Amino acid sequence: NTNGLKAGKTRNILEKIEEAGKNCIIFYGSQTGTAEDYASRLAKEGKSRFGLETMVADLEDYDYDNLDQLPEDKVVFFVLATYGEGEPTDNAVDFYEFITGEDVSFSESADPPLGTLKYVTFGLGNNTYEHYNSMVRNVDKALTKLGAHRIGDAGEGDDGAGTMEEDFLAWKEPMWAALAKKMGLEEREAQYEPIFGIVEREGLTKDSHEVYLGEPNKMHLEGSARGPFNAHNPYIAPIVESKEIFNVKDRNCLHLEVDISGSNLSYQTGDHIAIWPTNAGQEVDYFLDILGLTEKRDTVISFVATLAAFAPDESSKAEMTKLGQDKDYFHDKVSKYHYNLAGLLRMVGGGQKWNNVPFSAFIEGLTKLQPRYYSISSSSAVQPKKISITAVVESQVIPGRADPFQGVATNYLLALKEKQNGEPNPKPFGMTYEICGPRNKYDGIHVPVHVRHSNFKLPSDPSKPIIMIGPGTGVAPFRGFVQERAKQAEDGETVGKTILFFGCRKRSEDFMYESEWEERKKALGDAFDMPIAFSRDGPKKVYVQHLLKERSKEINELLEKKAYVYVCGDAANMAREVNTVLAQIISEQRGIPEAKAEEIVKNMRASNQYQEDVWS
Ligand code: 2AM
Repeated sequence: NTNGLKAGKTRNILEKIEEAGKNCIIFYGSQTGTAEDYASRLAKEGKSRFGLETMVADLEDYDYDNLDQLPEDKVVFFVLATYGEGEPTDNAVDFYEFITGEDVSFSESADPPLGTLKYVTFGLGNNTYEHYNSMVRNVDKALTKLGAHRIGDAGEGDDGAGTMEEDFLAWKEPMWAALAKKMGLEEREAQYEPIFGIVEREGLTKDSHEVYLGEPNKMHLEGSARGPFNAHNPYIAPIVESKEIFNVKDRNCLHLEVDISGSNLSYQTGDHIAIWPTNAGQEVDYFLDILGLTEKRDTVISFVATLAAFAPDESSKAEMTKLGQDKDYFHDKVSKYHYNLAGLLRMVGGGQKWNNVPFSAFIEGLTKLQPRYYSISSSSAVQPKKISITAVVESQVIPGRADPFQGVATNYLLALKEKQNGEPNPKPFGMTYEICGPRNKYDGIHVPVHVRHSNFKLPSDPSKPIIMIGPGTGVAPFRGFVQERAKQAEDGETVGKTILFFGCRKRSEDFMYESEWEERKKALGDAFDMPIAFSRDGPKKVYVQHLLKERSKEINELLEKKAYVYVCGDAANMAREVNTVLAQIISEQRGIPEAKAEEIVKNMRASNQYQEDVWS
């Protein structure tokens, strides 16, 4: 239905709250979902702290002409984003026109029409626009004019200053206090109400076939895995080759090949492969330890009855509350250090056990281990049924964090490499994985995967020139690109200029696929060029963008010939700096202002002449 009217649902808000037993409606006007998120948070908080029966409502889903009949013991929130140049969001257009209209009329036509309505407002806006938060300001004005009573201040969050979250937090406490007073609500201790109950199962062990240990594709174990294989159903692919391309101190570079011939999967040069990892044994042990659940390690559970409880002491409780409420604080204390859940609990509780936490709370709250995506490093034209993966495994020291951070999927791949090669597990970073055996039933030389298609693609015409920029593991897709172009050359096609800007620390340490490039050079001849920035070999750092700059003239000529530009790797610094340098080159070489050159680069992006495959 084009009106956003959902089949079978009432548009009558009074009917709706009656039927659902609600006393607090939280309407939102949202474009990208932020206002909707804030509405949901208010709904949760209203329920857990004040026992309000809250409901979140899309403004588009209801009619408003009976708001005057809302019983006096109810309250309405309006969480409203201002869009673009002071406009309402799409889902709030009708409401906005209604409430601010000259001839607004309600079903009972009392005077004033909304004399008994209590409401709360919070607006989301951007102070760099002229009509800052005009949506919520105008609605507030209109409601007041209609006789309604606002509770608390009219809240305004500013995305322009980047203080939305702080503005929201600062506004909501006095608002809740005013609302509680007005409605006679008692604040209560936040309560955890489990969705699941946990019951231990007798007579089953972890080895029992029916026990689920988190395998992403259990049917495989039963010999009955069926396609289509995709993001919901990974293919358990055999690993047919694995090796290390370099191994220095605390960094290894892995090269793996997985065989997809037994599946419906296909890929194209430039696509991504998803690896579905397993957690390291130690991480599972830390988790059980900090929860005081070590003894329960191999207990088989199923969801049935009920449970409840909390943190080890008052200060950890306060700290957790703060972490839960303040996004920036959470970032500074947790995200920045890449703590997982066990790490977070260890940090907050100072190592005390969290053995009061009902396990059901974790079952409800934990999400499934997510797959990790890698840019495929082979060409589908050369090896259509074998996907190459290039991954650097690094034990990363993060200042302020006690133990080094270990990536889940890269360490898992390293363990698989060792198993596939029949090596005794040397535990380079002290991580052990049960990649086969009771705690992981795959045989250790298969890995669950699926393919994610991308738009990061070679031009279909091989004679078009291309410029690739990929330092570090950013070189992965370009190994595929160059493999593909070398094959085209061998097949007698005309291949255009193929330049690969690569960068690594030292020639003797982490120069990836060193001997392969020589082979490609033989096939491609002068068409192939590979400038390399060794950042730690000489007296000063040399990066790919410095080499680009050195070749300004040539780069500009290629761009004028409509060369495609590809950038892969670190988004935060490298890709941004490359963008800047390209604009500088265009500006200098063509003698045009930098602003104009930046515009040209923007247009190149828009027309796909400039493509990125970047991560942070
Ligand atoms: P560095 O670690 O010696 O500083 C692959 O990681 C290569 O990218 C390394 O040689 C690394 O150098 C380099 N690198 C680090 N920061 C970069 C940046 N901002 N732009 C380009 N390359 C960078």
